Amino acid sequence: MSGVDLLLRLRVPVVAAPMFLVSGPDLVLAACRAGIVGAFPTPNARPIDVLEQWMRRITEGLARAGETQDPATLGPWCANLVTHSSNTRLPDDLQLLSRYRPPLVVTALGSPKPALKRVHDYGGRVIADVTSLTLARKAVAAGADGLACICSGAGGHTGSLSPFAFVSAVREFFDGLVIVGGGISDGWGVAGAIAAGADLVYMGTRFVATAESMADPGYKKMLVDCGSEDIVVSAGLTGTPASWLKPSLRANGIDPDNMPSAPPRSYDSNDVGKPNRWRDIWAAGQGVGAIKAVEPVAAVVDRLCAEYRDAGRRFARRTQESLHHAN
Ligand SMILES: Cc1cc2nc3c(=O)[nH]c(=O)nc-3n(C[C@H](O)[C@H](O)[C@H](O)COP(=O)(O)O)c2cc1C
Repeated sequence: MSGVDLLLRLRVPVVAAPMFLVSGPDLVLAACRAGIVGAFPTPNARPIDVLEQWMRRITEGLARAGETQDPATLGPWCANLVTHSSNTRLPDDLQLLSRYRPPLVVTALGSPKPALKRVHDYGGRVIADVTSLTLARKAVAAGADGLACICSGAGGHTGSLSPFAFVSAVREFFDGLVIVGGGISDGWGVAGAIAAGADLVYMGTRFVATAESMADPGYKKMLVDCGSEDIVVSAGLTGTPASWLKPSLRANGIDPDNMPSAPPRSYDSNDVGKPNRWRDIWAAGQGVGAIKAVEPVAAVVDRLCAEYRDAGRRFARRTQESLHHAN
């Protein structure tokens, strides 16, 4: 699938980003049916038989959806693999990729290299999740087809660069698929990212508070109730900077104003710590303020489309005005 095919098929250039303990087959299918990319991290499906069941559900669900809606309006699905050496299941995950063929594969916490041949052999594309320019350059040198540039303001493990600085710098050495994520929760933000040079936006936090996500109902409600002032970024829970909801820290006996010092980094998703970060302590990005209700994915995507179009009209009007004044 070429980059242009992929982009033309989408109603709005958004990926419902992969989220630990949150994204499952229901969220992926709802996102694809709504015309955006639906993604999930493979560690959410354990043991490996469950991953096979999920991949079968997704591929069969999409085939069924294609009987009642134009298949060209279905977004592609995406599997997110941990390629770090701590993932002892990687060979099994890779085998299932060959069998179920997700058009997009995002590699995280390691090099994209282990996935490249396998995914290219069936015509898929490999995107490397990166939080810095150093990692972006390494991923491009390793042969990644795309980059998911995680910026400041992201939910979960966050980056520290501004999306504008990150995308501009990446575009100096890479003309492949660029996804940008971090604090973008509405269609105006999506338009800004596309105007800045990205091809797609990674949107995580916004999709936690949907009917189809696997998140705890209390987590979804907290997202509706919180704004960006309720977020704290700290490496104190996983050893890597991550963006947490202050009320959920307090509920677990942690003072957000005195976060613990960073423990050794842990990328092992079996090791969720005590109290369980991700399961009991909830993450969100700076775009949390845009969440006003828990809604079905389709309703969220409808709104993103309307906002994206409104942003396009605004941008066209502003550039026309500038041209007018310049002449
Ligand atoms: C609760 C939560 C869990 C996440 N888990 C993962 C994960 O397992 N793998 C991954 O690559 N990214 C993960 N992310 C990051 C998202 O894929 C995405 O980069 C981020 O949510 C984008 O920022 P936003 O939340 O501000 O939209 C997670 C994010 C959240 C909020």
